Amino acid sequence: MRFDILTLFPEMFSSYFNESILKRAQDESLLDIHLHDIRKFSKNKHKKVDDTPYGGGAGMLMTPQPLYDCIVSVKKKNKGPVIFMTPQGSKLTHTRARRFARTNDSLILLCGRYEGIDQRIRDLLVDYELSIGDYVLTGGELPAMVFADAVSRFIPGVLGDDDSAEEDSFSRRLGGRKEYPHYTKPAKFKGLEVPEVLRSGNHAKIEKWRKKHLK
Ligand code: ADE
Repeated sequence: MRFDILTLFPEMFSSYFNESILKRAQDESLLDIHLHDIRKFSKNKHKKVDDTPYGGGAGMLMTPQPLYDCIVSVKKKNKGPVIFMTPQGSKLTHTRARRFARTNDSLILLCGRYEGIDQRIRDLLVDYELSIGDYVLTGGELPAMVFADAVSRFIPGVLGDDDSAEEDSFSRRLGGRKEYPHYTKPAKFKGLEVPEVLRSGNHAKIEKWRKKHLK
């Protein structure tokens, strides 16, 4: 799966994407991530990308020209939908992340900064708007990382065991509920013992215990 991420801060992404599972997924060509610096597309002689809002009000907005040119340029290589990360968007859920992974080979993620972006970019070029929760962050970069991570877990082969995203919290297999408690060695830690049933080797009983302890 290919992600093209449009941002004023491409470097924010490097440490997160270049470690652990997402790094391995890229090494194995399951995941292909391209970062684009919106500022490079500004035709302003000072590379300005923001301006004051018509009608007044606090803060600055991202101007349409650099965004438009950046998206149009990326669309030549990536034919997937454009997703704008914004607190005004539909809420990102397990089901939405899974659907994006199942129905797309490529996605374009647009990260806003300041008070937002000019509405005409949304009208002309944005296909979906997604929020990662009812709070406002300083930009769409963390939301884009959250989204790319959540979607990538559903790409076959990205998780060690192909099936594990289907057994996680919120999955259909767990009836949309959250996972049961997990334990590993040692059997006793700081006076707390692993429940006897989990050490019994009785799979039917373990299954029953886990079902009962779903949240
Ligand atoms: N940009 C700023 N806050 C956001 C949020 N909660 N979700 C998505 N994008 C955002």
